Amino acid sequence: MIDSMLSGSLNRALGSRLVNALTAPHGVDRFLEPFNPMWSVDKIRARIESITRPTADSVSLRMRPNRHWKGFLAGQYVRVQVEIGGVRRSRCYSLSDAQAAHDGLIEITVKAQDEGLVSAYLNRNARVGMVIGLSQAEGEFVLPQAVSAPLMLIAGGSGITPIMAMLRTLARGGHAGVLSLLYYVRNAADTIFADELIELFGAQPEWKLRVIRTRESGGSRFGRAHLDGLVQDLAAAEIYVCGPAALIDAVSALCAELGCESRLRLERFTATSTSAPADPDTISGELRFVRSERYAANDGRSLLDQAEAAGLRPESGCRMGICHSCTCRKTSGVVRDLRSGRLSSSGEEDIQICVSAAVGDVTLDI
Ligand SMILES: Cc1cc2nc3c(=O)[nH]c(=O)nc-3n(C[C@H](O)[C@H](O)[C@H](O)COP(=O)(O)OP(=O)(O)OC[C@H]3O[C@@H](n4cnc5c(N)ncnc54)[C@H](O)[C@@H]3O)c2cc1C
Ligand code: FES
Repeated sequence: MIDSMLSGSLNRALGSRLVNALTAPHGVDRFLEPFNPMWSVDKIRARIESITRPTADSVSLRMRPNRHWKGFLAGQYVRVQVEIGGVRRSRCYSLSDAQAAHDGLIEITVKAQDEGLVSAYLNRNARVGMVIGLSQAEGEFVLPQAVSAPLMLIAGGSGITPIMAMLRTLARGGHAGVLSLLYYVRNAADTIFADELIELFGAQPEWKLRVIRTRESGGSRFGRAHLDGLVQDLAAAEIYVCGPAALIDAVSALCAELGCESRLRLERFTATSTSAPADPDTISGELRFVRSERYAANDGRSLLDQAEAAGLRPESGCRMGICHSCTCRKTSGVVRDLRSGRLSSSGEEDIQICVSAAVGDVTLDI
């Protein structure tokens, strides 16, 4: 209904090359927005329908996407675009509701990070009726098509969000199999979805919940002992982990020790490590953004930062090498991976520009 006026032939006409040429460089959407911010020829827009606060520093936004939305699998994320101070910012947020919600609404839950730009903005400024941009759902952190093995879910902090989508989906589908959740929070007030988790796990005889409060007496970091009583044989379970890098690394190390890495699926919200910065004396060369005919002297920062500084707006999401949304074609030159320090070949290839820095002249198809 919301954007039904843009259906069928009208939508095709607006998406035609002629109309695009006439509305360049802004595109048709710029002219549709003043009438209704949900209208778009091909982009997903979602209107916030309701807002709740699972904790003092997090916000759940229930949104109605327009007709371009294709649905999602529990555990996947979207790239959310908001305009802050006239600049479009994009960040990844996991969908936290069941994958087949009957009301057609989708939900994300955003924890405000200290000095974080988008998370703080959404926590402070999200309002019912506000329209934000979304990507289609992405990511491989999803449940198997048929769940037969026991499920061992491990979450830390805001890492509960994709796992909540899985729990809600399984509960709604009547999943009665063996399932355990180990959930790390700083303290009681920091427990996102606390009441709902107690209700969900209370209603399922085969589901077990353990919440570890790391900042309260007796709390501690992940260790094998935390799994005692939750899972009989970790190596025989399907294991899902999402949370801070240290938690993911500790679970990965245990799975490697037990030889069950193939059963482990993980989702990182933050990057793992970064290599030492390049020696300033070795920073040289020119960046050539050929499609947009822009040029810049290489200053050693990531190619994404430098493209933005040159006035370009390439697609981006996590800005740390996780989501691949910034991938673009390097047509020549060598780049250094900012995480590992590894150098690329000098030939043509796709690279993630948020975690690549130029080593000398580099040409990109942007
Ligand atoms: C696949 C995926 C799914 C995700 N799902 C969720 C989710 O469901 N819920 C959720 O809350 N998050 C999720 N995230 C994380 C989210 O994408 C953002 O990274 C997070 O919200 C922080 O973004 P920001 O713009 O607020 O912080 P940014 O401005 O990007 O800053 C990132 C970090 O740097 C620090 N920082 C920023 N500016 C400064 C400064 N000037 N000085 C010192 N430190 C600074 C901040 O502490 C912040 O933690 C997900 C990430 C990925 C990759
Ligand atoms: S922006 Fe996510 S990989 Fe580059």
